Amino acid sequence: MAEFTLPKNSKVKPGKTFENAEGATNKKTFRVYRWEPDSGENPRLDSYEINLDNCGPMVLDAIIYIKNEIDSTLTFRRSCREGICGSCAMNIGGTNTLACTTAISEYKGDVAIYPLPHMPVIKDLVPDLTHFYAQYASIKPWMQTQTAPPPDAETLQSKEERAELDGLYECILCACCSTSCPSYWWNSDRYLGPAILLQAYRWIADSRDEFTGERLDDLEDPFRLYRCHTIMNCTNACPKGLNPAKAIAEIKKLMLSRTL
Ligand code: SF4
Ligand code: SF4
Ligand code: FES
Repeated sequence: MAEFTLPKNSKVKPGKTFENAEGATNKKTFRVYRWEPDSGENPRLDSYEINLDNCGPMVLDAIIYIKNEIDSTLTFRRSCREGICGSCAMNIGGTNTLACTTAISEYKGDVAIYPLPHMPVIKDLVPDLTHFYAQYASIKPWMQTQTAPPPDAETLQSKEERAELDGLYECILCACCSTSCPSYWWNSDRYLGPAILLQAYRWIADSRDEFTGERLDDLEDPFRLYRCHTIMNCTNACPKGLNPAKAIAEIKKLMLSRTL
């Protein structure tokens, strides 16, 4: 029988409160999901009140401030701090986005911070992306050719051919789109999801790649590609302004054109 309530050990309980902004006029409370795999306890929501005059303007600045000054046990990923590496993707105020490019000032009231939804959690704000990366590897994200490349020259593209990659090469594999896609929530074991399909199309669209037919064959599957129902959550979620739903539609068009 279908179960519509969370298992008891998944329910998020109220956590600790850290008040760290006594007397401050410019303060904010961050309510942060915490889960420690070895504790045997349920996840909890800890509250951290901080003086915003003491930290930088972005949500990632606040999280780093909390870790450095208030609670060193808080665990999260980050690297570049400029929207390039994709590692600080999390759910902030109900939206999947990058903590480093999201201003605290965008939020009125408390800011709720959770890990990316519908992914296994390793600890606190760190999702387990093992399956996501295995799906990425499955689409062979490298150039495949049959003809040998020229020994002493690059394989050139026209300006028009290069332009076909715009809107695709910028993807930083942050997973904000895939973890906002209802089809991916329910079928991620078999559906590749918008991030990986956008990456698949990035190689299909590359004029230098000679394995387009094989790449399309690999995607010709009721689940790997066709679980996309054009709900468009993915495109709304992308913090880089990309359009994974369009890339998926382009793959479907190519599938159709080769049957005609
Ligand atoms: S358009 Fe497709 S991939 Fe994007 S959210 Fe909807 S179902 Fe998911
Ligand atoms: S398409 Fe956008 S949201 Fe999806 S993984 Fe790439 S950068 Fe992230
Ligand atoms: S830290 Fe690299 S994208 Fe945010």
